[in-house]
Amino acid sequence: MPHRPYIVGNWKMNGSRAMLAEARAIDRAAARYPDVQVALAPPFTLIGALREAVTAMGVGGQDCHAQTKGAHTGDVSAAMLVDTGADVVIVGHSERRKDHAESDAVVKAKAEAALAAGLGIIVCVGETLEERDAGKAEAVVAGQVDHSLPAADVASDAVAAGKVAVAYEPVWAIGTGRVAAVCDVVAMHAAIRGRLLALYGESGAKVRILYGGSVNAGNAAELLAAEGVSGALVGGASLTAEAFLPIVAAAGTGEA
Ligand code: 13P
Repeated sequence: MPHRPYIVGNWKMNGSRAMLAEARAIDRAAARYPDVQVALAPPFTLIGALREAVTAMGVGGQDCHAQTKGAHTGDVSAAMLVDTGADVVIVGHSERRKDHAESDAVVKAKAEAALAAGLGIIVCVGETLEERDAGKAEAVVAGQVDHSLPAADVASDAVAAGKVAVAYEPVWAIGTGRVAAVCDVVAMHAAIRGRLLALYGESGAKVRILYGGSVNAGNAAELLAAEGVSGALVGGASLTAEAFLPIVAAAGTGEA
């Protein structure tokens, strides 16, 4: 694995202050795996408290608005995420693309706004089951990469600094317990890498490509060892330290 492995938990719309104890336990363990970059993305309501509670791991948002401020009731800007303690943001998750009709252009604008605010980004892509069954998975994902990633002229510093990541999350594998076959993950990650090199030139090699979709303690080692997989974006199995820590351990060598 040529990149520092990146294991990110996405709590989605789950979590209350009571769950900060889980986050602290995850953070203590993350400190024992310095070769792994660990981050948790809780709901907006917990970002500030999580920042105060942890030291070893990153803190992420799950979305941001493309504008810096203004009349956008209920939205949060990238600068606000930074202000409350986030260092990274997930954009273009399939649940946002579906629930909020976010297009590739919207995702790209959010990604560019996040970089402008100094955040790292994780841009999500992935095909539906219908698209896979129709043999269109690679074409769909290639199109999402081409049109959702920030433009080279605004992203070059962040790409070179390793602050841009892509998460390949097949929609049918999210929350279903149905994980993609390793050979399909390897093929898709190679296709994504090809698009990243076309977009960013040689430094496209620095973009980490994470896999997401029903990652758990039982399948993490095999997925993380697969060629071209630089980490994982984890939903359900990131909600407790007990479920999440074996995934972090599978990514690293650890000191303890
Ligand atoms: P699950 O790990 O629950 O399948 O969710 C994956 C995901 O959507 C992470 O962003």
